[in-house]
Amino acid sequence: MPRRNPFYLKVLPLDAPFCNRRKELKELTDYGYSDTSVVIYSPRREGKTSLVNRVQNELRKSDTVTIKTDFFSVFSVDDIAVRFAKAVFNETRKYEPWYKKAIAVFQSFRPAFQPDPMTNTLSLTLTSVSGKTGFDLLEDVLVSIKELSDYIENPINIFIDEFQEITTLKESAKIEGLLRTYMQETKASFFYVGSRRRILFDMFNKRNRPFYKLAVNYPIEKIEAGELAFWVRDQFNEYSVNCKDELAEKLVGLAHRHIFYVQKLGLFTFNLSGDIVTESILMQAYEDMLESEKTVFEESYIKPLAPAQRHLLIALAGENTKQPFSKDFVKRHNLPAISTLQSALKVLLNEDLIHVQNDVYSVVDKVFQDYLVKNY
Ligand SMILES: Nc1ncnc2c1ncn2[C@@H]1O[C@H](COP(=O)(O)OP(=O)(O)OP(=O)(O)O)[C@@H](O)[C@H]1O
Ligand SMILES: [Mg+2]
Repeated sequence: MPRRNPFYLKVLPLDAPFCNRRKELKELTDYGYSDTSVVIYSPRREGKTSLVNRVQNELRKSDTVTIKTDFFSVFSVDDIAVRFAKAVFNETRKYEPWYKKAIAVFQSFRPAFQPDPMTNTLSLTLTSVSGKTGFDLLEDVLVSIKELSDYIENPINIFIDEFQEITTLKESAKIEGLLRTYMQETKASFFYVGSRRRILFDMFNKRNRPFYKLAVNYPIEKIEAGELAFWVRDQFNEYSVNCKDELAEKLVGLAHRHIFYVQKLGLFTFNLSGDIVTESILMQAYEDMLESEKTVFEESYIKPLAPAQRHLLIALAGENTKQPFSKDFVKRHNLPAISTLQSALKVLLNEDLIHVQNDVYSVVDKVFQDYLVKNY
């Protein structure tokens, strides 16, 4: 007989158990309902997308129009325009008068929804009808969204996941400028969400950038340990597996309160458990988790780094420090010349692999830090 596991590794479905975030849900829902734009950031896999999906779900209950797009791996100016247009049609389709208006204002695209037998849903195809491309196309789409926002009386919330990805395009300065011009005039609250914290933060907080002060800064912090442990124990209990308080606390500690690892370690522990969680099962699950994260750590985090960057990352994993360029630190870890280290550190900070907290440099992902210490 198969057994359902209460833990999730994917963006949480709306009906899945959700740990806390009550304050964030309330505050972000209020912002979304009040035409206030927010830049929402946290390290990778700390729960931004799952949270904002829930915020949009709350907003829908108050008749807010919730548009959602994702700039992950965005590859051109045209692609941005297409993603926006698709997001708008996907949402307005739910209400005939808005959909008709969207079709009327969008000069560049004609939408068509067709049933997709594979997924049993409707899939959207856009036909380009104006012949416009590049910035002309993007501008056209942004004008259309603005016009639509003037027509719709309900509040509108537009969630752009991985927003910082536009900075990977060579025309990014011009894109930022154009987006700002129209987003400022559009009657909607925008949620700009992403995990490259430095890049996203700079976009909204540097004086010379188009988005300067256009949105409220909203960092997503880790959930408090006690709340997490309580939640973990509850998930086991719900599925008739007994997990003692101290083991739930230990699990949360091994995961360093990082919600993704809490879920993953929970999942592995549940798989190995009968009707009771034991310490040796938990430790076995922890080893299994590190093993299964190995590919991500090695291939996505470590491999793309240049040797000096890798070297500095490993040194900082072994020893968090206020002074990564000090003579002692450099000597202890056999690091290269300061000039090389300075540019290496910049890359590690931009990639959000390293951050500074209370003046101390450390690895952002503490489970990854444990992995580095163990294996290098
Ligand atoms: N409040 C929560 N309670 C329980 N699990 C959560 C919660 N929020 C997120 N998760 C879980 O944490 C993991 C990461 O969530 P999510 O993908 O939403 O994070 P993210 O910050 O958007 O990640 P990324 O940086 O990859 O975009 C998923 O496994 C998800 O199921
Ligand atoms: Mg996400």
